[in-house]
Amino acid sequence: EASPAGSGSSGRRRRVLMFPLPFQGHLTPMLQLAGALHARGGGGGLGVTVFHAAFNAPDPARHPAAGFRFVPVGEGVASGDLVPSGSDADFAGALLRINDRLREPFRDRLRQALAEEEARPACLVVDSNLRGMQLVAEELGVPTLVLRTGAAACLVAYMAFPALCDKGLLPPASQDKAQLDTPLDELPPLRLRDMVFSPTTTHANMTRCLRDLLDAARSSSGVILNTFQDLESSDLQKITNGLGVPMYTVGPLHKISSGIGSSLLAQDQTCLEWLDRQEADSVLYVSLGSLASMDEKELLETAWGLANSQRPFLWVIRHNMVKSSREVSLPDGFEEATRGRGMVVPWAPQQEVLAHHAIGGFWTHNGWNSTLESICEGVPMICWPQFADQMINMRYVQEVWKIGFELEGELERGKIERAIAKLLCTEEGRGMRQRAKDLRDKALHRSRAPPTQPRSIRRSKRPARHRAI
Ligand code: UDX
Repeated sequence: EASPAGSGSSGRRRRVLMFPLPFQGHLTPMLQLAGALHARGGGGGLGVTVFHAAFNAPDPARHPAAGFRFVPVGEGVASGDLVPSGSDADFAGALLRINDRLREPFRDRLRQALAEEEARPACLVVDSNLRGMQLVAEELGVPTLVLRTGAAACLVAYMAFPALCDKGLLPPASQDKAQLDTPLDELPPLRLRDMVFSPTTTHANMTRCLRDLLDAARSSSGVILNTFQDLESSDLQKITNGLGVPMYTVGPLHKISSGIGSSLLAQDQTCLEWLDRQEADSVLYVSLGSLASMDEKELLETAWGLANSQRPFLWVIRHNMVKSSREVSLPDGFEEATRGRGMVVPWAPQQEVLAHHAIGGFWTHNGWNSTLESICEGVPMICWPQFADQMINMRYVQEVWKIGFELEGELERGKIERAIAKLLCTEEGRGMRQRAKDLRDKALHRSRAPPTQPRSIRRSKRPARHRAI
């Protein structure tokens, strides 16, 4: 049911509390996890209370299952500077402000929920970026698990961040290309540039955010990761060794729970019918996820790159995808040049699109959900990372799994056309597709191994009741 904190009770089932970060790429995996926990035992599983920021709120009406509750937090809180807009926004600053402003309202909501519940909740599953909410839960005696929505590789890189600062490698001494391209010996295949969050994020904010993130992980009863062993076994081992708390790999989450209703924007389903009319492996799907953006010149080059490629494409142009532009206008002549082989939509049902037999490649910003969804459907990628973990994900796609390549430097139509041809029409591209399909098979047949135990865990640190989660 959808109800304010604690209003009404839905029976005596054990309840898990959750608090996602209010962005699409974080809400979706948290709600997928919620769905999986709720479905345990054929729908008679755990009750779920989702605390969520009042902005970017999930729609309770789309989660009608009994046992689900949604509790908005911080309705009166000013949220204008909490939603980063565009690729060059200060994400770390926004994360710090979110923790700051939602902490007090969450304390009230959690207190209220605890007072009204018959039984103590099993735990709070909190996004790894919400250390502030975890501290509130600790204060009120609620144990926490941390959901890390990114790759294991990214968490390993973030664990190494303090040591790279101590060595004087971070922040980079200059913006010189050679300096930024310096390979990091301790984190192959990453380079110094892959550790820079975004051009506008200060080193001080980045340092605070990552310290909070690691504190959240280390003081939790366990870290849940949306990845799978066959994909990231060596980084998962590093986390196990380095964090000192139990680790649970539950990915790919979207394959065990649909997270239905988690999309903040309406998905245009007509593109699936259009895909039905296209040949197998022929269409390039182009999408930059929920936050990344491009400027007007980049939009123009992309449009002509797609048009000149002569290949079918499905292009997601989100309402706020083009920087400093209220209305997105495609260039004159674009529609005629691509009629019959191109479709533009404001938001797509991405998981279904990637699973469609017509999709031959994905031009992506390499958000972790998009990367994982592409891997799980055996779709190779053209990578155009913008900020945060996206550069790290791109390096793994290109250098480790070899299922895609970066579109480097300035966007230019000729370069785009060549990249599309390489992915969709060459032997090299076919090799990438084959390796992606091999990974897809591993994702689908992944072993449901028991949770990995850290080597040095003190058993007393883990209350026995967590083992059931
Ligand atoms: C953000 C960060 O940008 C990313 O780096 C981090 O890994 C997670 O948080 P976002 O930019 O939204 O995420 O990218 P991504 O992680 O790929 O998530 C986007 C989600 O939106 C995916 O689950 C995708 O299926 C969905 N989506 C995207 C749609 O449903 N329709 C679309 O048209 C595009």
